[in-house]
Amino acid sequence: STYPKQFPANFLWGGATAANQVEGAWNIDGKGLTTAEVVQKTTDRKHMSMGDVTSESIKIAMADTTDAMYPKRRGVDFYHHYKEDIKLFAEMGFKVYRFSMAWARIFPKGTETEPNEAGLAFYDRVLAELKKYNIEPLVTLSHYEMPINLTVEQNGWASRQTIAAFNRFTETVFKRYHGQVHYWLTFNEINTGTWGFHETGAIDKDLSQTEQLQIRYQALHHQFVASAIATKQLHEIDPNAKIGSMLARMQTYPATPNPVDVQAAQLEDQKNLFFTDVQARGEYPEYMNRYFAENDIQLEMAPDDQAILAKYPVDFISFSYYMTTVTAADEGEQVNGNMATGGRNPYLEASDWGWQIDPVGLRVTLNEMWDRYRKPLFIVENGLGAVDELAADGHVHDDYRIDYLRKHIIQMREAISDGVELMGYTMWGPIDLISFSTSEMSKRYGFIYVDQDDAGQGSLKRIKKDSFAWYQKVIASNGDDL
Ligand code: BG6
Repeated sequence: STYPKQFPANFLWGGATAANQVEGAWNIDGKGLTTAEVVQKTTDRKHMSMGDVTSESIKIAMADTTDAMYPKRRGVDFYHHYKEDIKLFAEMGFKVYRFSMAWARIFPKGTETEPNEAGLAFYDRVLAELKKYNIEPLVTLSHYEMPINLTVEQNGWASRQTIAAFNRFTETVFKRYHGQVHYWLTFNEINTGTWGFHETGAIDKDLSQTEQLQIRYQALHHQFVASAIATKQLHEIDPNAKIGSMLARMQTYPATPNPVDVQAAQLEDQKNLFFTDVQARGEYPEYMNRYFAENDIQLEMAPDDQAILAKYPVDFISFSYYMTTVTAADEGEQVNGNMATGGRNPYLEASDWGWQIDPVGLRVTLNEMWDRYRKPLFIVENGLGAVDELAADGHVHDDYRIDYLRKHIIQMREAISDGVELMGYTMWGPIDLISFSTSEMSKRYGFIYVDQDDAGQGSLKRIKKDSFAWYQKVIASNGDDL
């Protein structure tokens, strides 16, 4: 046979977004306020403002009926532009579109027993539009948002009651979209729950570090159980559908060949892979039990929890891949990207936001993940956040983005030649959207430019960037013509 191998014929090329970053329409058709919509925008690109949320700031946000300080309330108005946007995705040749369903559109407070029909009707329309173009939906059930009411009433995922509330939502959408959605993901970048509020919906800003870790890992335990129960529900309701885990994979390298650095990097890596270990292998790994014991973290588990985790592992494994870091036993100089800190790697360049760009690391990551789990892998996010300028000719010449994506896709093909089973690739933010970490509009990822600025001003007009035609060509040639 010949190498490098080609992408498989059924490879799922596409793009990924999240409800709270694109939809807007935050208070329309019965939707409830979400945790993402109380997070203020920041102008400090090294700072993640979702960590600032307190009970007091939530009260202020709930009383504010505008979107001025809260850009995730407006997104890019996908709610009213979805036909136009999906048409553009189809024009690029998308085989798959990853998006999330906003829990609070369907259960506005999270505590209702009956769903909000108008919320479901919106996703009916989106799915019908995708079907028109034969684009497979890949639906994330929880992407950095939940009904704010669940934070106010029970501190989000810190409460065990949130499991039942979430699984009411998952059962509702599994039944409704039975036969229509073949691929689901439970929690987006579940590992970032160790950073707090945006993933756990639990307020912990003023707690000590030990208390924060306690509350975050407890919340994550509840998410693991809810994810396993969702897997059980889906397999019963729609045996042909598949469900996956989703990790922000952060490969880290030892800073030097000094064995103490190698060991420190291995532990960092384990703390990242831990989440997929639980969701794919169905049990807490011993290295994490040791970490909990050494850090005074005591998880409360119900008698059946471990059996549930063991019985319902995920069908496939997905992850986002943006950057890698370096770890030393003695922390030296740290790169201060807004997503993760870690040592600087002198061999890599970084984006304007400090994210170290590492295409070869993607091949390393794919091989490691495949070896570890032997389950199909799906890259559900990868891309370059950059400041794009609309040139005098009315176009956006984003050759830097093409360069970034091309280099990563080449490494994907290498990994496939290494024997990795890769289902697909959904590049992050095919249309410009609100940044997760800073709520900026000016951090753009898209093939499609959206005319809107950080203050929410603009016509919302969609404009194809140069990368649009490039990606169209990549998909048409099934990854041959890069
Ligand atoms: C991932 C998230 O962390 O990275 C997305 O799943 C996010 O929601 C993406 O948008 C890029 O991050 P940012 O902060 O540049 O928007």
